Amino acid sequence: MLSNLATRDVETLVHPNTNLAQLREVGPLVFERGRGIYLYDSDGKEYIEGMAGLWCTALGYGNEELVEAAAAQMRKLSFTHLYNGRSHDPAIELAEKLKEMAPVPISKLFFCNSGSEANDTQIKLVWYMNNALGRPRKKKIISRLKAFHGLTVAAGSLSGLSYNHVDFDLPLPGFLQTACPHHYRFAQPGEGEEDFATRLAAELEALILREDPETVAAFFAEPIMGAGGVIVPPRGYFAKIGAVCAKYDVMMIDDEVICGFGRLGTMFGCQALGFKPHAISVAKALSSAYLPIAGVMLPEVMYQALVAESAKVGTFGHGFTYSGHPVSAAVALKTLEIYARERVVQTNAAKAPRFLARLHKLADHPLVGEARGLGLVGAVELVADKTSRRAFAPRHGVGARCVRFAEAEGLIARALPGESVSLCPPFIITPAEIDEMFERLERALTRTLEWVRKEKIAEG
Ligand SMILES: Cc1ncc(COP(=O)(O)O)c(C=O)c1O
Repeated sequence: MLSNLATRDVETLVHPNTNLAQLREVGPLVFERGRGIYLYDSDGKEYIEGMAGLWCTALGYGNEELVEAAAAQMRKLSFTHLYNGRSHDPAIELAEKLKEMAPVPISKLFFCNSGSEANDTQIKLVWYMNNALGRPRKKKIISRLKAFHGLTVAAGSLSGLSYNHVDFDLPLPGFLQTACPHHYRFAQPGEGEEDFATRLAAELEALILREDPETVAAFFAEPIMGAGGVIVPPRGYFAKIGAVCAKYDVMMIDDEVICGFGRLGTMFGCQALGFKPHAISVAKALSSAYLPIAGVMLPEVMYQALVAESAKVGTFGHGFTYSGHPVSAAVALKTLEIYARERVVQTNAAKAPRFLARLHKLADHPLVGEARGLGLVGAVELVADKTSRRAFAPRHGVGARCVRFAEAEGLIARALPGESVSLCPPFIITPAEIDEMFERLERALTRTLEWVRKEKIAEG
């Protein structure tokens, strides 16, 4: 029997990324308020928000400085757009700040409202640029299996998870996928990390050659694949992949939507993984999710092409009503100010060894095949057999079951494909809270193991 609120929910809302049929049976988990790293549901139960919302609430809940920044900007100028050459101070200042922080030379910023819009924009800008440069065939886009870059039509085409494509008639033509850099799952027997990385770079090169390099425009990658299962690429991967992209003049686009602003203990994820992209997408922690805002950080060569093409066409015909919304931009500026003042990159790097030590200790658990992560993000992959690495059949929903046990223990975690359970806490988590978070996860894993044994799930 669903509660009144739950009944109203299922009778009114279509939830993103949800089994809608199952939701009608079990109802939603309704949250009412948050404070610091804690969330409270409609029954008053407390949870550690171990996923920072959707990898985004970096400064946790109830940050009065961000509330005040939004309120002050709303009072001063609640809206003006950037169309037709209009502008406002918060957007200009945010663009200046991001240019200054960029890990590679960045010429300009284009603002949007979500990671998906940022990646859609990247694609449109690459196409527009290549038309401007007189190479209209150079349009295909490569991403990786298990990638996640968003769910709009083009970003959804980049994403490499089957349930984002099936029955949505995606991917669009011209979107290609290369191998996923997950050593634990996809390395050949006896293949070391370097050799695995070499093989994946060779596979990427073979794909580009098969398609014809004159038709391949860009390669998209997250430094660490988040929604695909928190996949940390093998040693040497980005250096080898980057060399292939450079050889065939394929633009390397870095999706920093999860990794940006300190998550990996560096300001940008590409700095932790050691690569230099041409363009960057940012979102999520940019405003600590207090308001939606995202950005495309683009290089001079692209900007010059956009200027030339718009002069020819008459206008640069891309944008959104809320591109660079002044209130979102003001909140993002305050967020970046707090990151600098609190030295979040350094403090995250200092907290990471404790987080990773607790995470890697879970590899001893009978259900955990692999514990992987970097900085303050990680996952455990639950397996039916540790020695053979045999996976659980997806129909058992072992990862989802573990997440439900975690909720019962007062922890928000997330089940990802391949029965992985992830953690990505707010940056403000303290060392003691990291310990408490893992203790709750350990109790959830014990309950999952009991359930797996009782139901004899591992056997079939
Ligand atoms: C790496 C990455 N890129 C893009 C997106 C899409 O962002 P949004 O949901 O804001 O459209 C996400 C969302 O989780 C993401 O993880």
